[in-house]
Amino acid sequence: MKSIHDAVDHKLYSEEDIAEMTKRLGQQLTKDYAGKRVLVVGALKGAIFFLTDLLREMDLACDIDFIDVSSYGNGTEPSGKITVTHDLEADVTGRDVLIVEDIVDTGLTLKFMKDELLSRGANSVKCCVLLNKTARRTTEVDVEYYGTHVGNEFVIGYGMDFAGLYRNLPYIGVIKPEVVEEFSSKHKHD
Ligand code: IMP
Ligand code: MG
Repeated sequence: MKSIHDAVDHKLYSEEDIAEMTKRLGQQLTKDYAGKRVLVVGALKGAIFFLTDLLREMDLACDIDFIDVSSYGNGTEPSGKITVTHDLEADVTGRDVLIVEDIVDTGLTLKFMKDELLSRGANSVKCCVLLNKTARRTTEVDVEYYGTHVGNEFVIGYGMDFAGLYRNLPYIGVIKPEVVEEFSSKHKHD
């Protein structure tokens, strides 16, 4: 049987590296949101692994909710048009919201979510992302908290997918170019 690990060209961040980043971020958030009841919003599906680890490093009273937005991209390129495909249950009016995301690339998704929640009357909307891919940013958006910068490489694992797969790799790695090529040649006519 083929292993999901075979799709990885090389490892970028080990489970230990991720735990270290998560702990640091959790401690910072615990300080910064002290005394507040924060509404933590996980961006489905990529953020769920990071979210559950981060929350356990946050010594804060908080509510948890989820949002999913789709950029109608399948593969490695975002398409630009964004809509909410799974909405929050919570009313964000007057709330201090912390969006948790796996990775910020162009910034379009994060900007859309922030603007959307602010327009619904949130008191504050900040974000905590694990990976900050600054090289491809096309829109100006504040990334208040992040684990580390990453270069312009397509990464998989710890929630991050390629065409829906590899989210359950316990570490973060760069995808093998041949995996992307194989997918592209199969979906050439889509
Ligand atoms: P943005 O709108 O371009 O900032 O893209 C954000 C979304 O694109 C993230 O939530 C990810 O789902 C996806 N994404 C961007 N870069 C990567 C990557 O290297 N690996 C996996 N997903 C990525
Ligand atoms: Mg995503």
